[in-house]
Parts: sequence; C-alpha cells; structure tokens
Amino acid sequence: MAQLWGGRFTKETDKLVYNFNASIAFDQKFFKQDIEGSIAHTKMLSKQGILTAAEETAILSGLEKILSDVVEGRLEITNEYEDIHSFVEANLIDRIGDTGKKLHTGRSRNDQVALDMKLYVRQETIEIRALLKELLETLIKIMEEHITTYMPGFTHLQKAQPVTLAHHVGAYFEMFKRDRLRLEDLCARMNTCPLGSGALAGTTYPLDRDYTAQLLHFDGPTINSMDSVADRDYVIELLSALSTIMMHLSRFCEEIIIWNSNEYQFVEIDDAYSTGSSIMPQKKNPDIAELVRGKTGRVYGALISILTTMKGLPLAYNKDMQEDKELTFDAIDTVKGCVALFTGMLDTLHFHKDTMQKSAMNGFTNATDAADYLVNHGVAFRDAHGIIGKLVLYCIDKKKSIDELSLEEFQQISPVFEKDIYEAVSLETCVNKRTTIGAPGPDAMREVIRLNKIYLEQS
Ligand code: ARG
Repeated sequence: MAQLWGGRFTKETDKLVYNFNASIAFDQKFFKQDIEGSIAHTKMLSKQGILTAAEETAILSGLEKILSDVVEGRLEITNEYEDIHSFVEANLIDRIGDTGKKLHTGRSRNDQVALDMKLYVRQETIEIRALLKELLETLIKIMEEHITTYMPGFTHLQKAQPVTLAHHVGAYFEMFKRDRLRLEDLCARMNTCPLGSGALAGTTYPLDRDYTAQLLHFDGPTINSMDSVADRDYVIELLSALSTIMMHLSRFCEEIIIWNSNEYQFVEIDDAYSTGSSIMPQKKNPDIAELVRGKTGRVYGALISILTTMKGLPLAYNKDMQEDKELTFDAIDTVKGCVALFTGMLDTLHFHKDTMQKSAMNGFTNATDAADYLVNHGVAFRDAHGIIGKLVLYCIDKKKSIDELSLEEFQQISPVFEKDIYEAVSLETCVNKRTTIGAPGPDAMREVIRLNKIYLEQS
C-alpha cells in the first residue's frame, strides 16, 4: 500500500478501505496523460524559478523513463499504489531520489485528475471523430452508387412514398455528421486547462498558468479554481454525444435487421459479419447489428450514472467524482468498437436492388403522386385525397396496384384522369420529380453528395 498522505495518520488504512478507495485498476488508462501533465507542470515550475534547471532536468528525464518503461513493458503498473498519480510520483522518487519529491509543488491531485481526464477525453474525441469520418466515407460511397436504387420510404413502418437508397442512407449521413460536429463543439468548450487550480483555491506559488495551458495545447487556463476541480460538464457532454451516436447506430442496426429478415430481403449481411446457430443449420443471424443495438443501453447508463453522481455534490472536489472514470472509459471503448464494426458491416452489405424496387412499386407508395396529378389538373388537394382513397380501396378489392388499372377504371373513379396518369405514377417519376434540395430526386441528391464531400474534405 503506497500512499502519498500517511503523515497525519496513526494507523494503517484498513485493507478493505484501501481497496475500496483505490482507483489504480482503472485510472492507469490515462497514465500517459498523467505524465504529460507532470512534464508541463515541471517545465512551468522551472521557468518560474520554483525548480532549478538541474531539478527540472532530473524530473523530466525520470518522467520520460517511466513513460518508456511502461510503454515498452519493463515497468508494470500494479495495485500496490492507490492511483496513477501516486504510482508516477512514487516511481519518480525511487528513480531520482529527493528531487522527485518536488514534482507535486503547487499542485493537488484534484487539479491533476481534472487535467488528466480532460486530456484523455480530448484525445479520445479525436479518435472517435476519425472513426466517424470513416463511417461517413462509407455512407457517401453507398449514396453515390445508389442514386437510382428505388425503395419504399416508410412512416410508422408502413410504406409511404418511394425514395432511393441514396436518400435513405443520406439521412444517416446527416445524423453522423451532426455527431461529429457535436464532438468538435464539446472539445472547443472544454479546452481550458485546470492545472494550477490546486486543491480548490489556487496556490501561493507564482505559477504561470498560461504557460502550462500553452504547453498542453489548451486555449488558456480555467478561470475559477473551484470550478476547475469540480467540473465534469465535459464528461457529461461527451457521454451525451456518445449516447446520441449509439442511438443513431442503433436505429440503423434496427433497420438493417429488418431489411435482412427473411420477409424483407432488401439486404444480405456479409458472411464475415454474420453468425450461425448452434442448433438450426439454416440460420445466418445479424448478431453484430443486434449487439451494437444492445450496447446502446450501457452508454446511456453511463450518462445517467454520472449525471446522478454529480447532482448532489457541493463545491469543490468530492471523491464521488472518481466514479466518472470507469463508466466514461467503458462508454468510449464501446462507441469506438461499435462505430468500427458497424462501418465494416455496412461496407460489405449486399443490397438486393430488385427486391427493394419491387417493394417500392407495391403498397401504393405512388398514391400521393396520383393525388398530385389531380391537383395539377385543377382538383383541390383535399378532394383529390378523397378520390385517390377510393381508388386505393378499389385496387385492394381488385388486388391490383394503381399503375395496373386500365384507363377506363381510372376514369370511372374520376373523369379528370388521362393517359399521362401512367407516367405520373411511375416509380421514376415519383422520385425524379422531387427536385427540391433534401428530396430524393437524382439532381437534388447529387448536389447533397457534392456538399457533403466538401464537408468531408474540409474536416
Ligand atoms: N483518484 C482520484 C479521482 O479519480 C484522484 C483525486 C484524488 N483527490 C483526493 N482529494 N482524494 O478523483
């Protein structure tokens, strides 16, 4: 049991208490960030004359050796230290002796852990943004290939109007684009450096907090030392952004599971991304999509958990906040895994264009266009709606689709119908006439793809 704070105690900590209190099992995850912060702190202390140049050199070389020893497997981070901060400091003292004891001058673990967590979140956010970019690139590739792959668009999971696969997939492009932007937003907002806030009330040493912030690539220092050590808003914002990513992935997975079902057969998940059944030889299951959908719950759980942990905390630091780590790390790893696997599954997904097109042609997806035809011939929309309702009822009775009716049948229902009704309700017309930006028409779609490619190039 290696502790930093034994001085005022007369007894050893109870073993169970020690274990309950310790965080090394999980906070070793940001061990690189902890050293990075210590390096910046040391440079600043030396610049301010709080450490001598010789002390700075000794501490920096000690820290760098700890870093390389751990990275290269020569030094193991073990549970005999309370947390990662104690591990690094104790190791430094072992290596360089008493000078190592000066590292913690003008610093508390409270501002140290706030810094480490920010550095970790900032780094992981960059990685998640890169993974989302790969997903967006896969989506835009599918969009480009399927500008004229017709499929039914649904509302209430009932066939509504024909769209294209490019358009459907394009909806997800917008969602994941917003997700990336959200990550950028939160990074910009959290990019202030808490180091130098001390335990809660700053320090009496002449620290140069601007310099520390600059060394660690922050926009500047945080400007209230109590807030600095008590703030986990950025963790909450991150978990909220991650929850939204999972929600989007989960919705897409749900659709892929439906499309992959025996009844739909719009898509087939590649063998490399499917699994079998131990008893039913014919089965090929969409387990990956189901797992991604299923893991959404644990990321939501992390968000609710930290919100609940924070809600009753008085200023400033409280140990409750140590609970932010495991769930944040788990949520980050979960999202990274899910985005990467989902991208792979999507990239290898086989689309059954004919089945999609056939499905778009039945189910009266062109009923709105038939009504619009009447409107274009002078009928008020509400009356046209009623007439086409009757037409659909007639079709259901005769087991025909709208375009299978004879002109006489059309005219029996309304004399306004002419020969050109057939062209007006064809799948191609229904889609192609939707030309406003955001609609599935091919020209509108090409413009959206162009805009989104510019976004990808520039981000
Ligand atoms: N392991 C602690 C955490 O994660 C580090 C800060 C400890 N500070 C303290 N005052 N006990 O929050």
